[in-house]
Amino acid sequence: MNGVVLISGNGSNLQSIIDNAKSIDLKICCVVSNKMDAFGLKRAAKVGIPCVALDETLFNSKLGFDQEIMKVIDNYQAEIIILAGYMRILSADFISKYSGKILNIHPSLLPKFPGLNTHQRAIDASEKKHGASVHFVTKDLDGGPIISQVSVNIDSKDDAKTLAKKVLEKEHELYPKIIQWYTQGRLKLLRNNRIIFDGQLI
Ligand code: GRF
Repeated sequence: MNGVVLISGNGSNLQSIIDNAKSIDLKICCVVSNKMDAFGLKRAAKVGIPCVALDETLFNSKLGFDQEIMKVIDNYQAEIIILAGYMRILSADFISKYSGKILNIHPSLLPKFPGLNTHQRAIDASEKKHGASVHFVTKDLDGGPIISQVSVNIDSKDDAKTLAKKVLEKEHELYPKIIQWYTQGRLKLLRNNRIIFDGQLI
């Protein structure tokens, strides 16, 4: 399945998707970044994946920016759009155009801790467990239907940095697996935002 990956930064999730692409039936046609200096662009370029970096400052509307990304997606006939640390809120038009085709990974056990600084917030809330969630993207920020989650224990000596590292390692295992479910046609998002997995509602 042709896919486009959207990033903003380091791209360690992108790397795990690149490393697993063959075995998860994914062709990464292009990596798009909203940050010109995202390290993930180097990771993609290193293995010959076309990259597009869009300079946010050159666009005066959110939709105008997203329309550039839509051109890339449509040009490659991508059937899956993978957000991997993409830190920009997508426009409603973008989300509705590709409804059911956009996946995101978020570093918390949603619905707990949508938004930023999730690791510190989990520690501050004295949570015993933390983790990551893969979900379909809908217009509700970090609020789309959850497909799967992975958890880690929060130890008394954990700080935001050690916790982030533990969670990221789990993200790298989780995300390619869920992408494969999608590329194999095992996952579908219904209009009512319910998910079908292997023919069953989950
Ligand atoms: C990850 O924690 C991911 O869950 C979140 O942003 C971070 C991206 O990290 N959406 P990386 O760029 O993949 O290393």
